[in-house]
Amino acid sequence: MHRIPLSNVELHTVDCGSGPPLLFVHGFPLDHTMWQGQIDHFAATHRVIAPDLRGFGKSEVKDQPVSMTTYADDLAELLDALSVSEPVSFCGLSMGGYIAWAFVERYRDRLASLILCDTRAAADNEAARRTREQTALRVLQEGPAFLADGMLEKLFAPQTRAQNAAIITETQNMIRSTSPTSVAAASRAMANRPDVTDRLAKIELPALLIAGEHDAISPPSEMREVAQALPRATFVEIADAGHMAPLEQPAPVNAAIEHFLAACEG
Ligand code: MLT
Repeated sequence: MHRIPLSNVELHTVDCGSGPPLLFVHGFPLDHTMWQGQIDHFAATHRVIAPDLRGFGKSEVKDQPVSMTTYADDLAELLDALSVSEPVSFCGLSMGGYIAWAFVERYRDRLASLILCDTRAAADNEAARRTREQTALRVLQEGPAFLADGMLEKLFAPQTRAQNAAIITETQNMIRSTSPTSVAAASRAMANRPDVTDRLAKIELPALLIAGEHDAISPPSEMREVAQALPRATFVEIADAGHMAPLEQPAPVNAAIEHFLAACEG
């Protein structure tokens, strides 16, 4: 891990391997370790950059409101700080995908391709926004333990819950150790994120969309529609996976990413 001071925050990041740059952006309320199966695999062929977003993992916590744009700006600054000038393949999961849309909007020229795992283009509806605010208030009052227990059914496929206790425990520990301030800020930022559905037709980057068969947060049917709206996207569904497909089923996810990158990088 490297500690990288940026203009407003210090981020911890993995930066390993060499080759075309591949940026992994984690979901909520997690950290870069959710990508370990991808980091180990792709460091053999790529320069792998996997930061903890501000407030998560070992990165600095700031008691400030954020938006998806804040995280995107941090990532662009991080690439500058690491002297990555080549266009990157941006691989984001869920909130990492929401950040990818903001990154496309502001830093299109810095992108070679998009890999969007278990994420959405639509904004939250009113009920979801209210739930996010309740989450923010509750986490500030009592800490993140309730999320560590409450999110499991939504994050993992039944098979993972039955057969992979290690992944479940690690994820719970990750959530429990996250700062309440950062969880609240990210929850509010997700509630305020824009709907990008109308922009999809203009995103002409090569894109790979990956959905876990049992994803309850960003269902495969919805992700397939996002893929159809993007001009150059392919869609892959991962069997026996939920919302955390890269963590639950690293082998087929890595194979899909490898196949996609080989075609993009020609
Ligand atoms: C995530 O995995 O980043 C979150 O579950 C996304 C969300 O709650 O919309």
